[in-house]
Amino acid sequence: MNMTATLTRPGLAEIVSGVAEIVKRGLPGRETAFAVADMLRDNLPTLDILTDEERNGVPGSYLSFPLYTQEEFSVVAVVWQPGSETVIHDHLAWCAFGVLSGVEHETLYRDMGDHLVEIGRAANKPGEVSGFAPPGDIHMVRNTSDEIGVSLHVYGADVSATGSSVRRVYELPVR
Ligand SMILES: [Fe+2]
Repeated sequence: MNMTATLTRPGLAEIVSGVAEIVKRGLPGRETAFAVADMLRDNLPTLDILTDEERNGVPGSYLSFPLYTQEEFSVVAVVWQPGSETVIHDHLAWCAFGVLSGVEHETLYRDMGDHLVEIGRAANKPGEVSGFAPPGDIHMVRNTSDEIGVSLHVYGADVSATGSSVRRVYELPVR
């Protein structure tokens, strides 16, 4: 990836240097995720961080745009069509995200071995940020608004090397 080019996206350079400064502290995953979420709250970019074409996404689905990756973290924009949702999954590393448009509705689950139980829900609206770290990070995310959703995610992993932030996909029944 051409990092010089990607850092010209409005607001991205500030986020990348903010995350780098936090990661350098070497805090545990949860604390890192919370600190990155706080930093994101103060530095949330506008939708101009994506091009018009990128912001359209793909009909019926969601699409990830890795904006910056390095060994220790990645900054990824996700574009969610209305009603689009992820599978139930958990993550390789800590994550922090902020919502730019739409509603990123999250359902949280606990793994009971042969099934999952729902343990919580959160509706993240524009301007809101959140952070979490494994373990206990099993969730499903859906854009419940009728506009295109855009969110900015920071993962404590190099998604250009791992392919995605997902550790495991859960196909267990929910009871
Ligand atoms: Fe996730």
